[in-house]
Amino acid sequence: MKKIILDCDPGMDDSMAIVMAVKSPDLKLMAVTTVNGNYPIEVTCVNARKTLELLGRADIPVGKGLGKPLVRDVPKDPFTHGRDGQAENFLPDPIMPLDKKDAVDLIIDIVKANPGEVTLVSTAPMSNIALAMIKAPEIKEMIQEIVAISGAFGLNKYAFLNATGDTPQSEWNVYVDPEAADIVYNSGVKLTALGLDVATYFDVNFNDDDLKKLEESHKKEAAFLLQAIRFTNGRGFDAYCTVIDCMAVAYAIDASLVETMDAHVGIETKDGLTLGMTVIDRRHHHVWEDLPVVSVGCSADCGRFLQLLMELVLK
Ligand code: BDR
Ligand code: CA
Repeated sequence: MKKIILDCDPGMDDSMAIVMAVKSPDLKLMAVTTVNGNYPIEVTCVNARKTLELLGRADIPVGKGLGKPLVRDVPKDPFTHGRDGQAENFLPDPIMPLDKKDAVDLIIDIVKANPGEVTLVSTAPMSNIALAMIKAPEIKEMIQEIVAISGAFGLNKYAFLNATGDTPQSEWNVYVDPEAADIVYNSGVKLTALGLDVATYFDVNFNDDDLKKLEESHKKEAAFLLQAIRFTNGRGFDAYCTVIDCMAVAYAIDASLVETMDAHVGIETKDGLTLGMTVIDRRHHHVWEDLPVVSVGCSADCGRFLQLLMELVLK
């Protein structure tokens, strides 16, 4: 079983990522850490616990993380996940407490207790992970890998067509805290960045048969997903929006779902037209060698991804 920490900002798709991570027999979810992102930190750390309680897994620690980006103010998300941040599923308030340790210390302590064994799955701005690396730089050599929903690389039309940040070519998680992303991208830790190129394929859609299976299921998480799809469709968006972050968990389970390539990538941290852009250097000459090399997702097997997702939700 692969040990993971899920650092997230639930968010309906982060909530579905928690569902997958908890239910996969291939993963051991060591902790959920939350951060400001889709919603303020007070909402994201409640939603993470609501989701774990929905799954009957109040034993998994939840660490509360940063309430704002490392150096910037909190930007406003132009996309809504509803009044509760969970597609208006309005789950019961959580009973389980937050962990005594905050998100940053949970990450540091779990990584140190399991050197070389922990994969960080990041589905949110990278503020917690960057701060953990600043506070305890020695963990950088102990993290097995980081798999992140991060960036928009322009490798296909979906990347920029579905840009989620507030510039035409930025992805939300990088856009919110570009300085944190810059630290993590440059940390030397193996990073797989699954950008909007693979995480917001329109092909990730649910057919009538999938919807029927969700409707007929007695699982609360199936009802949660169905409500999220209806909520999203009702606002004129496609259903893939409900499961964007699931691609990172799916990749942690089965890396063959996504084709990747190594490339030099830089993060734009200057304000303006391209703030938060993940600039990929694919030139065959004069390459900016000082930019870190990152494994970037270029295409995904959406059929197999959805199959895995449905299997885990329904089981
Ligand atoms: C990312 O932004 C958030 O809205 C989603 O939860 C996802 O992590 C996609 O850009
Ligand atoms: Ca997210």
